[in-house]
Amino acid sequence: MKITFILKDKSEKIVEAKAEESLLTVMEKNDIPIAAVCGGAGICGSCRVRILNEDSVAPAKDHELSILDALQSDDDIRLACQVTLTEDSDGLRIELI
Ligand code: FES
Repeated sequence: MKITFILKDKSEKIVEAKAEESLLTVMEKNDIPIAAVCGGAGICGSCRVRILNEDSVAPAKDHELSILDALQSDDDIRLACQVTLTEDSDGLRIELI
């Protein structure tokens, strides 16, 4: 599947990804800059990204929601380390924030 990242300079980078990979893993494999202070444990909130087509990923679970709420994140913000790609994720668009 193809995932598009919109980088901070607004350029786009399209990468290949597989179902079951985490978004953070895809980003690290493709040298897309992202902070991951807790190493993907879902506790630091540093890997936040904006999901432009939210229907392409499963909704956040309670643990992720509590971190996002604590950081007063908008509804379209997710933790890259907690988003697992599915077969429905082809065409996913992610904006770095
Ligand atoms: S890397 Fe820390 S919450 Fe995702």
